[in-house]
Amino acid sequence: MFDKPPIAQTIRPPGVLPSHMPIFIQEFLKHPLQIGSIIPSSRFLERRIVAAAGIASANVVVELGPGTGGTTRAILRAMPRHAWLLSVEINPHFHALLSRIKDDRLIAHLGSAGELREIVARYALDAPDAIISGIPFSTMSRSEGAQILEAVASLLAPNGRFVAYQVSGRVASLCEDFLGPGRITTELLNIPPMRVFQWEKPAA
Ligand SMILES: C[S@@+](CC[C@H](N)C(=O)[O-])C[C@H]1O[C@@H](n2cnc3c(N)ncnc32)[C@H](O)[C@@H]1O
Repeated sequence: MFDKPPIAQTIRPPGVLPSHMPIFIQEFLKHPLQIGSIIPSSRFLERRIVAAAGIASANVVVELGPGTGGTTRAILRAMPRHAWLLSVEINPHFHALLSRIKDDRLIAHLGSAGELREIVARYALDAPDAIISGIPFSTMSRSEGAQILEAVASLLAPNGRFVAYQVSGRVASLCEDFLGPGRITTELLNIPPMRVFQWEKPAA
């Protein structure tokens, strides 16, 4: 794409309780099934997700369900200077917050992960090296979840990584059809303790 000016990073203090709590809780109360978690991810979970996805060596990263942007900022902190991050958020209030992040590597898209193929094609990015997802697969229909995961598996670059964090194991059973059995770890320093599922797409 085009040259990027210097990065302006947003600094956040460390901790288990994240920032932007009031708006997150407010939106959760309005759309509990779509948001799926009452508070944003902790700094500890953010770090685990970033490490599992191999963000430090990625050129193109896609984030599904960035919410109020804590995970997005963690990805940006770890990402190389030349890399791109495309975030896809369905909630307009969260999208408005994401659009305030001043980092020219970030493309914040308001839309649904259900249209992932079209969204990625629209920005003419290379195949993603990592896709990170916080969207709740347990509260959507199995067919919608499978459609998203099929797109994730087909869009990923060879050796690309898919990382999903959720309490429910639904994502693992759905994704097995496309990427095989995944690896599961648990981050205890999060409210609630959160499972992190990860896959690596085969090279061939
Ligand atoms: C559990 S929250 C994660 C928020 C944030 N990444 C974090 O870790 O704190 C899930 C997010 O996914 C978004 N979401 C749910 N379904 C979506 C979809 N189909 N497409 C895009 N975003 C979606 C919700 O609006 C919410 O922001």
